[in-house]
Amino acid sequence: MKYPPEPFRIKTVEAISRTTEWERLSTIQDAGFNVFNIPAEKIYIDLLTDSGTSAMSDNQWAGMMIGDESYAGSKNYFRFEAMIHRIFGFKYVIPTHQGRVAENLLFSTILKAGAGQVIPNNNHFDTTRANVEYNGGIAEDLVVDIAKDTQALADFKGNIDLDKLERLVQKVGAENIPIGMLTITNNSGGGQPVSMENIRKTSELLHQHGIPFFIDACRFAENAYFIKKRESGYGEKNILEIANEMFSYADGCTMSAKKDGLVNMGGFFATNNKDLAEQITNRLILIEGFPTYGGLAGRDLEAIARGLEEVLHEDYLAYRISQVEELGDRLIAAGVPILRPTGGHAVYLDAKNFLPHVPQSQFPGIALTVALYTHAGIRAVEIGSLMFAHQDEKGNTHYPDLELVRLAIPRRVYTNSQMEYVAENIIELFQDRENIGGYEIEYEASVLRHFTARMKPLK
Ligand code: F0G
Repeated sequence: MKYPPEPFRIKTVEAISRTTEWERLSTIQDAGFNVFNIPAEKIYIDLLTDSGTSAMSDNQWAGMMIGDESYAGSKNYFRFEAMIHRIFGFKYVIPTHQGRVAENLLFSTILKAGAGQVIPNNNHFDTTRANVEYNGGIAEDLVVDIAKDTQALADFKGNIDLDKLERLVQKVGAENIPIGMLTITNNSGGGQPVSMENIRKTSELLHQHGIPFFIDACRFAENAYFIKKRESGYGEKNILEIANEMFSYADGCTMSAKKDGLVNMGGFFATNNKDLAEQITNRLILIEGFPTYGGLAGRDLEAIARGLEEVLHEDYLAYRISQVEELGDRLIAAGVPILRPTGGHAVYLDAKNFLPHVPQSQFPGIALTVALYTHAGIRAVEIGSLMFAHQDEKGNTHYPDLELVRLAIPRRVYTNSQMEYVAENIIELFQDRENIGGYEIEYEASVLRHFTARMKPLK
């Protein structure tokens, strides 16, 4: 079967309502034409993010009922720790309330302000980059060049370019690179996977220079599934074996359990480095809590332990990856320009080619998110000029290479008929694209403006 069906049935449902187009027009106007400002109740299909939006299983909810809320030594912590040992293999496990705290603890510990230290990665996710830069480091994205071509078909467009990595080490010196990283799958690069070969070679290259290697593991199970399907030698291995091998090459990881942990809140940092674990634990106590809960309730730790076990199931991953792929395939068949091949957690519309008559200065990605909401009540997110365009000292504006609109698919949440609804409405918009116009900014904040900006349609 090309698109395997859901390996679950539905026991609890949450009502969502379809507003009228008239209501949506007034809502989007009140929201300053920025979908971040829309109350979630006014959304029909919410594809803003796949983070913290998963549906938990009956097994996870049952686990929530046996939460041990002891301040220290909760039994759920030990189950959480044991599951992380089993999958990731790292000795020291430090819970945090979400992924960016793990990043903050790591970079505030290893970076020294003003030292010009560099962190290489395939592509840093926004919060990773922000945590590197806030702590005085320089974040370098070294993804393979083919990743920049939205139409090029390749199995592992998330790979880091090993020649660029070697050149960076030669240029800045290994002593100025406290760690190297890989983000799996590569969210900022379209949810594209990283191959086992690339993980192993990155590890070898960094270790030859004495540089520790860490993995941003948010979507590790999706990445492992792509390795199983696409990389020779892995077809007969199970997801746990593949995950074990991926992490065997690394010295530690940061993780947002809000993705492949299948929970609504949680994360962790894990490593084999005792000194680093000790320093991070001391910081953790200062900002998150005691080392056996780290900002989470005992019941949350139990839900993560169970989610990490469930995410390894191959029938789940087959359904998950193919649900995203099927949405992509429907759009491709209708000629809608999307980033190819579809990644693990999202379909990315290519807004520049979807709306060629709207120049980047008029925010084609925003135009598309507004049209998607007003036409069908679907919320997506712009990853384009509102998020990334910036001005240099001379006042010249620099636009990003790509103008994307991400449709992130929450895990186990929407049915395939809802996905069909999404596809049909995007195709309708595509057929009517000449009628979609550009926007200008009415208000913007000085940092991370895309979250709070207010926009205005141009005539
Ligand atoms: N790393 C990656 C690759 C991510 O995608 C995210 C979050 C984080 C780190 C941070 O984790 O949110 O738990 O603090 N990505 C979400 C998204 C927000 O929509 O892509 P967090």
